[in-house]
Amino acid sequence: MSTAPIIGDVERAASLLRAGGLVAIPTETVYGLAADATDPEAIARIYEVKGRPTGHPLIVHVADPDDVLALVADLPEAAQMLGAAAWPGPLTVIVPRPASLPAEVAGGLDTVGIRVPAHPLARDLIRAAGVPVAAPSANLFGSVSPTTAQHVAADLGERLDAGRDAILDGGPCDVGVESTIVDAVASPPQILRDGAITAEQVAELLGSVAAPSGPSRASGMLASHYAPDCTVHLADGDAEAARLADELPDARILDARDDLVDVARSLYADLRRADADGVGHLIAILPPAAGLGHAIRDRLQKAAAPRS
Ligand code: TXA
Ligand code: MG
Repeated sequence: MSTAPIIGDVERAASLLRAGGLVAIPTETVYGLAADATDPEAIARIYEVKGRPTGHPLIVHVADPDDVLALVADLPEAAQMLGAAAWPGPLTVIVPRPASLPAEVAGGLDTVGIRVPAHPLARDLIRAAGVPVAAPSANLFGSVSPTTAQHVAADLGERLDAGRDAILDGGPCDVGVESTIVDAVASPPQILRDGAITAEQVAELLGSVAAPSGPSRASGMLASHYAPDCTVHLADGDAEAARLADELPDARILDARDDLVDVARSLYADLRRADADGVGHLIAILPPAAGLGHAIRDRLQKAAAPRS
């Protein structure tokens, strides 16, 4: 069986996208599985390749902040304030879905997630394709997100069509966890997923407009998600880690408290490496619930949640 090629040529990748193909793209957060966001058939293939239920909406990516204004005429004020500060960067805002984007891209919702990624290759590709690009994380539904082109090839290479799809290699992702999602249609705006644009930053940027957290519609909020094969055990501090290590002498320990930027960057590669090494139990020592720690705790809690 042939697998989709790993390529470095942005023009080639853009022509595949324009022809209705799928291209796995590097972003600063994680790799995405991209398709022309205006093409319902290409979008249907994203769901099929990922094994993702069609009710789970995708994020639409554009190359420049000005392109968001061109795409979404009635941009909520909160989205304008956050976008002005964070784009290009690891922030997605939920806004009213414009008629130019098909319902399929949003899982049938009348809202849509929009983001301007910071990775230069992603922006060059979207510009060259000349269309907005829908892209969920380029992993099988429910498993660990990819942060290298090789992760994508291992997960999806054989599920992609070698004749019409490709994986664009932009090196390892810098941030390592998915974008922060803020629902700007909700009043007050609501954080649906923590990321590198922290809850503290969102609250500060929105000023008087409070940004409480709460129950969410995002699939990243399912209890079990980002799940490796090994069993993940959470420890709040050294004492609990030591107690767990006594019970599980073969467990590997992942200390997620050091430099949080480094922890986030390598988190998914660490989970994948544990599986590749045949580790059965991973003890993760949680960082404090502040700043980037929110996103790291969230991903580890989901990796540790009971599987359905
Ligand atoms: O960093 C990222 O955001 C990466 C890169 C590739 O850009 N993408 C990503 O996509 O994480 P995905 O599909 O794995 O996660 C998108 C999340 C899902 O949890 C989805 O439910 C939520 O965004 N979402 C998208 N549109 C939404 C909407 N209209 N309302 C509520 N949630 C939405
Ligand atoms: Mg995902």
